[in-house]
Order: sequence, then C-alpha cells, then structure tokens
Amino acid sequence: MTDFTQGIRADDLADGGMIAGKVGEEEVLLARRGDEFFAVSAHCTHYHGPLAEGLLIGETVHCPWHHACFDLRTGHAIASPALRSLQTYEVTRDGDLVRVGTPASSPAGPAASSPPQIESILILGAGAAGSFAASELRRLGYTGRVTLLTREERLPYDKPNLSKDYLAGKAPQDWIPLLSEEEFAERRIDLRLGATVESIDTQQREVKLASGETLKYDRLILATGSSPRRLDIPANANVHYLRTWNDADALIAAAEGARKAVIIGGSFIGLETAASLRERNVEVTLIGSDERPLEKVLGREVGEFVKRTHESHGVRFRLGRRPTEIRSDAVVLDDGTSEPCDLVIAGIGVTPNLGLAERAGLAIDRGIVVDEYLQTSDPHIFAAGDIARFPSARNGSAIRVEHWVAAGRLGQAAARNALGQREPFHNVPFFWSQHYDLVFAYVGHATRADDVQLFGSLDATNAAAIYRENGRITAVTTLYRDDVSLAVEAAMERGDSDEAIFDIVQRAFGSA
Ligand SMILES: Cc1cc2nc3c(=O)[nH]c(=O)nc-3n(C[C@H](O)[C@H](O)[C@H](O)COP(=O)(O)OP(=O)(O)OC[C@H]3O[C@@H](n4cnc5c(N)ncnc54)[C@H](O)[C@@H]3O)c2cc1C
Ligand code: FES
Repeated sequence: MTDFTQGIRADDLADGGMIAGKVGEEEVLLARRGDEFFAVSAHCTHYHGPLAEGLLIGETVHCPWHHACFDLRTGHAIASPALRSLQTYEVTRDGDLVRVGTPASSPAGPAASSPPQIESILILGAGAAGSFAASELRRLGYTGRVTLLTREERLPYDKPNLSKDYLAGKAPQDWIPLLSEEEFAERRIDLRLGATVESIDTQQREVKLASGETLKYDRLILATGSSPRRLDIPANANVHYLRTWNDADALIAAAEGARKAVIIGGSFIGLETAASLRERNVEVTLIGSDERPLEKVLGREVGEFVKRTHESHGVRFRLGRRPTEIRSDAVVLDDGTSEPCDLVIAGIGVTPNLGLAERAGLAIDRGIVVDEYLQTSDPHIFAAGDIARFPSARNGSAIRVEHWVAAGRLGQAAARNALGQREPFHNVPFFWSQHYDLVFAYVGHATRADDVQLFGSLDATNAAAIYRENGRITAVTTLYRDDVSLAVEAAMERGDSDEAIFDIVQRAFGSA
C-alpha cells in the first residue's frame, strides 16, 4: 500500500481519481478534484466499507456498501447511513509531489442560516429519521435547542442489524447504538428516553407526554416510524415480532432454547430472520402466501434464486399457504396440515404510526402528506421516515418507503427545511438486504416487479435487474455490483434519461 507520507506524483492520480494508501498505521483515501487533493480516512464510519471502491461526485465520496456520502473537504457525513465524520488529513504539494501529513481538525460545516424565531426544534421519534435529523441540525451549526424524544428506554439503535448479525449472534450489544450517550451530549442533543408522546397541540405548538409534561416547539419533526402488523388468527402461544431492540433480545432468548422455528411471512424481515436462525442451528420452516419469496418486490427469477439460496442453507418453504391457528407446539395451515415448532415469528409487514398526526388534524393519505420540502399541512411541522408520503424525485408521484437509508435522508432533509432552507428532497430510495453472504442493493421505487430485465448471472453472484412500469425504468437491483448500484443512484438523482440508466447497466454486463 502506498505510503502517502513519502508522497505520490500528482500525475499518478487523474482528476476524479481516488486511491487508498497509508499514513503511519492509518489507512487513508487520497482523492483528486482538478488541482486539489483531499485526504480522509479510507473506511466508511457506518460498517467500514472501502471508500476507494466507491464513487466520487463533486467534492463528495459515496460508500459502495450502503451509499453513505461524505464531504471530502470537511469529512462530514452528509447523507445517511453514516452518522460519524471521516478523519481529514493535511495535504501538501511540493512541485509534482503530493504528501499527506498529520490528521487535521475537522473544519466546521456551513453556518446555519437559522431564523432567530426558531429557538427550539422538537423531534418526535429517535429511529433513523429522527436521529439523523437531530445530528443534521448540529452539523449545520444550528445553535437552538434540539430535543429528541423516544418512547423506548434504550439509546437510538441500528434497526437493520437486528435481523442480521445481531440476531445471528455475530454482533455484540455495543455495535447496536447509533451514537453513545457522550456523543449525543457532545452534539448537544437533548435525548429523552422513555418519553411517550400522547398528543400534539398545533395551536399552542406543544406536545404532551404520558408523564403529563408538555414541551413547546417552534418546529416539530415527526418521525414515529411503523409498528409490525399483527396476525389475526387464534393463538395460544407467544408469537414474536421484530421491530425493536427489545423484540430482538426477546427473540434471541427464545431462539437459544429452540429447535424448530416457524416464520410466517416471506418478506425481507422473515427471510433475514430465517438466515440468522439457521446460523444458530435452529431448524426453520417459512410460510409465505406467494409462490416465491420476494417475487412481488424483486421479480420471479430473483425470488426463485432467493428461495434456492435459503433452501441450500436448510430452510424449508411452505409457499402459497397461510396460517390459520397458532398452537403451543405447531402452526396450522389453511390446507389443514400443521408445522410442529417451539418458536413462532411473524414478519407480515408494518403499519405506519399515524395516530398522533391524525388526531392533530394533519393531512393524511396512507401516510402523512408532505410536500417536496417534507412540510406537512401545518407549516410548523415536518415529517420524515416510514410515516411520510412525499413526492418522488424521479417522477413526482407521491410515495412512502420503509427503508433505513431513505428514512435517514428524509430526516436530514426535514432538518434542513425546518431551518428554512427550502431544499426539495431529491434522493432516490435505496435499500439493501442480506441473506447469509448474499447482499442485494436496490435503487429506486417500483410498485410492481412483473417487467424485469436480468443482466449477468445470479448464481455467479454478479447480476443486475432493471424494473419497468409502463415502459419507464423504476428501479434497479444489483447483486455484488456496488459500482453499478452507485452509478444508477447518481444517474437517477441527476434526472438522467432511461436510456442513460440502461446504458450504465448494459455497459457493466454486456447484453441482457
Ligand atoms: C429488524 C429490521 C430490519 C430492517 N432491515 C432493513 C434493511 O436491511 N434495509 C433497510 O433499508 N431497511 C431495513 N429496515 C427498515 C428500517 O429500519 C425502517 O424503514 C426505519 O427504521 C424507519 O425509520 P423511522 O425513523 O421512520 O422509524 P423507526 O426507526 O421505527 O423509529 C420510530 C421512532 O419513533 C418512536 N415513537 C413512535 N411513537 C412514539 C410516541 N408516541 N412517543 C414517543 N416516541 C415514539 C419510536 O420509539 C422510535 O424511536 C429494517 C427494519 C427492521 C425492524
Ligand atoms: S459501510 Fe458505508 S454505508 Fe454502510
């Protein structure tokens, strides 16, 4: 690995290029933009993704794994899912030689143009949307009061991990909080745990907590997320649902003594849970109402591939079936058969938590209606995350998405707009899903997956699928092609044509 303290020739790094090297023991990324060179730590602060394999856009670098974005000049994490900055390094130029020196103190971000009348911003919900909103306010230099409320008793945490490494027993407890207590304090975020909000008074601009306390706000960001849908069938045994850190701990405790699990629902949560339980050597049968898991989201061929992958790890499927009863030792199906088990988990979708917004009189349409600035029908209230129905940057249609990265970015954009920046939300939804060592990356938003064009080879774990609706490209899934996923995301966010997006995929794989 190149030792950057010895220097490299400027001509060895083309404009727009990046390389990884070393400064002492530290791995550092050197990037060039015109005649300027930037040096930052080489690994993403989310899950340590290798930034040199990412994408450079302007003065930002995008992580290949889950598309976090960092400002090269300041090191700041500017788009979720990273919440911590990269270390920046001094770069000096001596004729043709570029040298990287000692770590630099991170320069401040842009000063917030925060109107003086906004003294207090209250954020209701500390999941992805709420936590990223709170940090974004501080990154922008907002100096007023930031209060972050959650009804849960635990520090805000990394939900996607709960069904993956954490459930599989491969991620320790201390990986799960998004930030430590000290980091919330350093960011001057007044985090209130166990603070359940019961009502919002839009006239008085205050929220009422279950404890009886009332909190005033100048701007309110709603980010109450979703709750799992519950089974509506007779049950005389405990059914596990997986939404919170406490749910995950309860499931882990139950899995430790279990031999056979039945998972109801062939969704991402159901399948990721199946993979994690297999890693714990629990036998798994998955009941799904569709013919193939994930067929509605990823299409027939990808769904078939997902099924084969799980089967090769020992998962049994009962597809095209529904459960009719949960007994203490079995789940009964609609064909009269039953699946014996000592653990039952249901992952049958989620419902957005809209009750508070509804009672406060905000406009609702299968989600809280927001405009391109994520402003609700009350100009002092913004909404972000799973609950927000917002205009899609790609075609303007109102969409609601239930993904971690999107929730974080909606939260960050809501924060900027709560400060009066009037910045339309321009991000395209992105999500990833992990099953054993397979990781799917998905960019865009499709409501159907029946017009699918496949590229590459799923079995060789080098593939992409383009989804179309009414002839227009709506989304692209990739398997181990982060380069394609990042390029498609950037193209969609620039508003490039379908032909340009198709070209990116075709050039990467040759013909379909
Ligand atoms: C196990 C699991 C795995 C997932 N994996 C992935 C993945 O791999 N990729 C992906 O893209 N997405 C994934 N998701 C989805 C993703 O986590 C959600 O889309 C995201 O968390 C939504 O963020 P949010 O901030 O809108 O809501 P949430 O994260 O649900 O947060 C809601 C917050 O509101 C608080 N709250 C609600 N009501 C009140 C009230 N009345 N008073 C006070 N506080 C309240 C809650 O305590 C919580 O803090 C996963 C979800 C789960 C559960
Ligand atoms: S590792 Fe970089 S975004 Fe997740």
